[in-house]
Amino acid sequence: MELSKKLKEKLENRIENNSYRSLKTENELIDFSSNDYLGFSKNIFRENKLKIGSTGSRLITGNTASIEALEQEIARYHNAKSGLIFNSGYTANLGFFSTLPQRGDVILYDEYIHASIRDGIRLSNAKSYSFSHNSLTDLEEKLIKYTGIVYVAIESVYSMTGDSPDLVSISNLCEKHNALLIVDEAHSVGLVGEKGEGLVAKLNLENKVFATVMTFGKALGCHGAIVLGNDDLRAYLINFCRSFIYTTAPSPHHINTIDQQYKRLEKESHQKTIIFELKSIFRGEVSTDFIITTGKYSAIISIKIGENTITKRLSRFIQSKGFDVRPILSPTVPKGKECIRICFHSYNSKKDVRSLAKSFNQFYEK
Ligand SMILES: Cc1ncc(COP(=O)(O)O)c(C=O)c1O
Repeated sequence: MELSKKLKEKLENRIENNSYRSLKTENELIDFSSNDYLGFSKNIFRENKLKIGSTGSRLITGNTASIEALEQEIARYHNAKSGLIFNSGYTANLGFFSTLPQRGDVILYDEYIHASIRDGIRLSNAKSYSFSHNSLTDLEEKLIKYTGIVYVAIESVYSMTGDSPDLVSISNLCEKHNALLIVDEAHSVGLVGEKGEGLVAKLNLENKVFATVMTFGKALGCHGAIVLGNDDLRAYLINFCRSFIYTTAPSPHHINTIDQQYKRLEKESHQKTIIFELKSIFRGEVSTDFIITTGKYSAIISIKIGENTITKRLSRFIQSKGFDVRPILSPTVPKGKECIRICFHSYNSKKDVRSLAKSFNQFYEK
């Protein structure tokens, strides 16, 4: 999917004005440009001999051949053309949504979209409107109403409810109305698709999606994120995205960690089947009086309570039985949607999952 004409022109202007930013890798010159004032970045980790610090931002001294190689490798893993690593999913979303949509453009976003996308939208000059959660009808009404360049922001697995959109239908709607679809895959990477490549790649929708955001802080067990798309998108972000430009690059040690975690994911992604088995044990054993939301792709089950005080009391009760579950309260979720969010892991045991369900059942039996 192409960058809009407006954005391509902005990139071309940069070339004409001699202000085009491109990444350079390491050199052998004597360092009078990095921020490594005391030389501390040169400390190395004993186990892998890699430097602790990156010394500067990607556009000054922090870029390396290994970051670029990893970006290409991760893009390949998810069947994307190109990728740009960010220090977190928060800064990836903040940067993307504050940079790509321009004044006069429109952003349509699912009402349950993550705070990092909301904050990016707040910083953007584009107009923005939410559509009802997972509602194809509401989305299509808005796609008909708002013309011009329209971006649509969704998650492949929603972080608080664990459910998923009908991605095939949403991508068809976006194609029909010429809108640019962005999918945040924070909670599907590692869990969806043969090797955890995410929902977009699993459904072969790469050509219908403008960008995806993969985060490394969840199933991959480290931190950071990557925005995947085409080469023009990458070049545009390098040139204009403030949360990419004005921050210290990830260190060699961190890049190596992400690389190792992806290699591990490729080998061990089958572990996700344990999670889905545990989820179904829990669902089979927890009282049907509880209002449960989840989806077939996620490790998350949300138990809706709909009120802060009881949600807190329930979570304290479950914690007193030895299980770490956390209350999700308003305003993190809208009033009336307060819930307990349970995340299942490959290292949880069936016995513990059964006892957890039993503890929930006991709460109302007291
Ligand atoms: C859907 C979603 N997107 C983005 C993020 C932000 O990712 P990170 O924790 O890497 O900043 C999160 C994490 O809370 C998330 O749940």
